[in-house]
Amino acid sequence: MQTIIEPFRIKSVEPIYFNTPAERKIILEKAFYNPFLIHSTDVLIDLLTDSGTSAMSSNQWAGIMQGDESYAGSPSFFRFEKTIQDITGMPLIIPTHQGRAAEKILFSILGSKGKYIVSNTLFDTTRANIEFSGAQGVDLICEAGKHPTVPAPFKGNMDVDALQAFINEKGAENIPLCIITVTNNSGGGQPVSMQNIKAVKQVCTTHKIPLFIDACRFAENAYFIKLREKEYADKSVPEIVRELFSYADGCTMSAKKDAFANIGGFLAMHNKELAQHCRNLLIMTEGFPTYGGLAGRDLEAIAIGLIEVMDEHYLQYRIRSIEYLTNKLMAAGVPVMQPAGGHAVYLVANEFLSHIPVKHYPGQALVGALYLHGGIRSVEIGSLMFGKYDDHANLIPAQLELVRLAIPRRVYTQSHIDYVSEVIIEVFENRNNIKGLQIIEEAPMLRHFTAKLKPIE
Ligand code: F0G
Repeated sequence: MQTIIEPFRIKSVEPIYFNTPAERKIILEKAFYNPFLIHSTDVLIDLLTDSGTSAMSSNQWAGIMQGDESYAGSPSFFRFEKTIQDITGMPLIIPTHQGRAAEKILFSILGSKGKYIVSNTLFDTTRANIEFSGAQGVDLICEAGKHPTVPAPFKGNMDVDALQAFINEKGAENIPLCIITVTNNSGGGQPVSMQNIKAVKQVCTTHKIPLFIDACRFAENAYFIKLREKEYADKSVPEIVRELFSYADGCTMSAKKDAFANIGGFLAMHNKELAQHCRNLLIMTEGFPTYGGLAGRDLEAIAIGLIEVMDEHYLQYRIRSIEYLTNKLMAAGVPVMQPAGGHAVYLVANEFLSHIPVKHYPGQALVGALYLHGGIRSVEIGSLMFGKYDDHANLIPAQLELVRLAIPRRVYTQSHIDYVSEVIIEVFENRNNIKGLQIIEEAPMLRHFTAKLKPIE
């Protein structure tokens, strides 16, 4: 087979910044071993996130110039609204400045003390917004999703039996919402099958629980369905996407992922009463319902990006480029989540650094090592991000200890990715020198963003 090439050529470039390991050592110390506290100009290859970091197309930039900045009733909003209605089949579209603003609005309405929001796996901001409302977030990932190095086609699936059991235990009246995250970001960027979405929907319908999709990476998930679920092999991606959304009562979306936009998000739904409630809250913090915290130009860029992302040449390249890096690492014996996910490569940190106990945050230690050795910025998705404390201040670890290398869309070329694999393999070969970390300062919620750490000597 011929090489799958980047389906674009480059018209505008921006510099990346080189520095030395000695300089990075000082930078990392000053940042308290937290990648969020490193300046981006001190990073060579930035794989912190695929969110808001996409390269926009010439068409999107042209759309930016077309943005109509009227406070109310802008044509840019109507283009945005129509595009999302066509893609999702949902009539009520509410723009927000990013995904978590949509979450905040939704859970302010649906969440409260004593309620449970169930999911395959909630993303960190989603969980935080649920907990802030007083409700509890519950992850019911399928068994395959709990074993990072054992391959399976749809490791993002929700455990339908566990969902049924949870409803029986807590009562449907205490579960105002079920959310399926596609792809399952915190669970390794793994896809959810159409069959699973249908099965979850059936259980939700029986118990009158609304089903929402966290749709950040809907196109990547749809492409996995096309590749891995036989009956979808001959369907187009927009057809698969439309069917996927047809099982949902609504969705939240961060346009910073599968819309190639640098900012933006939305809520979409069928229920008029809920939408009215959402719009009332929207006006208080985000803005009038025809812009919701965005400029008209952002609405244009998102509308164009949502169509571009469903292009199959793009999706083939996208999924292949993650697989390419995963395969190179696997060949060198590096423990990685298998199979490759849709937007990121996930290193299995507790196996990579098996000499560091979980309470010393092997994932965060590995993040530091990758930065020191090669200037690569990654993020821990493990017990620093999701860990809690018991009554005796002992760490209750996360389900998985992962380090995510998220690949921004249309940004890095194959040689950048080859360099990344070389750095990871060199760090793996010298892993025994890496030390664990301890926290010296932390916030009560979303602590990974601001926590300060130091090495354990
Ligand atoms: N849901 C999922 C599955 C996400 O991955 C994110 C963001 C959000 C919701 C929130 O969207 O950032 O626009 O407010 N994920 C980014 C990441 C930040 O790095 O994975 P947002």
